[in-house]
Amino acid sequence: MSGFVRKKFQGFTGYVPGFQPPDSGWIKLNTNENPFPPSPEIRKFLSSLDFSLLRKYPSPMGEPLRGTLSGKYSIPQEKILITNGSDEALALLFLALFEETDAIICPSLTYSLYPVLSGIYGGKIREISVDGDFQFRLEDLESADGKAILFANPNAPTGTYFAPEEIFSMAEKSSKLWIIDEAYADFADEEKSSLLDYRERINSAKNIVVIRTFSKSYSLAGARIGYLVSPDEEIMNALYALKDSYNEDYLSLVLGKLALEDVSYFENNIRIIKEQRILMKSVLEKMGFHVFPSAANFLLIRPHEMNAGSIMEKLKDKKILVRHFNTRQLADYLRISIGSPEENRGLLDALESIISGINDHG
Ligand SMILES: Cc1ncc(COP(=O)(O)O)c(C=O)c1O
Repeated sequence: MSGFVRKKFQGFTGYVPGFQPPDSGWIKLNTNENPFPPSPEIRKFLSSLDFSLLRKYPSPMGEPLRGTLSGKYSIPQEKILITNGSDEALALLFLALFEETDAIICPSLTYSLYPVLSGIYGGKIREISVDGDFQFRLEDLESADGKAILFANPNAPTGTYFAPEEIFSMAEKSSKLWIIDEAYADFADEEKSSLLDYRERINSAKNIVVIRTFSKSYSLAGARIGYLVSPDEEIMNALYALKDSYNEDYLSLVLGKLALEDVSYFENNIRIIKEQRILMKSVLEKMGFHVFPSAANFLLIRPHEMNAGSIMEKLKDKKILVRHFNTRQLADYLRISIGSPEENRGLLDALESIISGINDHG
């Protein structure tokens, strides 16, 4: 050991992202990306791009995307912060809000980046247990002792979901800060599935912070576009002061705006993914898997009498990637992102052959 690294970070384990294969030809259902390409408007823009514009720094305020979001949700611009993926929004919040000893209340199963961020920036995660179906109750989060409540809604990697009404009615009478990570909210069945769809309530909800991303529903994971909404002026001032001046690049700011404006393309893709989620659930159940209800673009499944890790490896041999978390809670489960109809068919066929191979050998 050279000893140059800060004591706190010597041997520190960071977030482990899903495998990104360097070559093509994979059916990639391991990181909840969208199977469809970004809006054709983005292709048009990129193919006629005036590349000399890259000479200049981008807007420090995240324009033109921030203004477009402000118009879409009727939320004043200063309550919105554009970030380099929603992971950056989360990191900035941890940096700005939590002293080392502040408790952050999370369900015991949620996005595995949160404990990593608390290790980097501060705050202590206080876990509230989930039941056998990985469900948790908002009341249990509220009644725990701590400064803030944080979870993904729909939750990851389970897909459980609370309607905005339930969250507002708990949070509005709470003295804690409620941080809701809505990475997958566009895939929920409710017509108004995000807290941002309730403009009056969100504009006055001082103790609610909403985090969104373009990585999943807008097919822009590679562009790293996220944002955060908070009506609390003090929080927003701190976040703007702490962020890198040019935290989002020029191209991503335009791509996000174009994606947001192409409503019919977006809605069509979401519709197909939701239809595929229903189909996949029913076929997987017929094949003997236990499949949890999901409001997201993935399914958490438990194989029957088969080892989840070895199914993941067998699929990988066939160039199909799904996610297996080798943790105490999740070792028996696989998380499968919803792909295109062709990719999903490919996965189901591969699973059939793995299952029948196992049965053939008794
Ligand atoms: C719950 C949750 N929040 C945030 C993210 C990060 O998204 P982004 O690509 O915007 O950083 C993910 C990505 O998998 C996620 O599952």
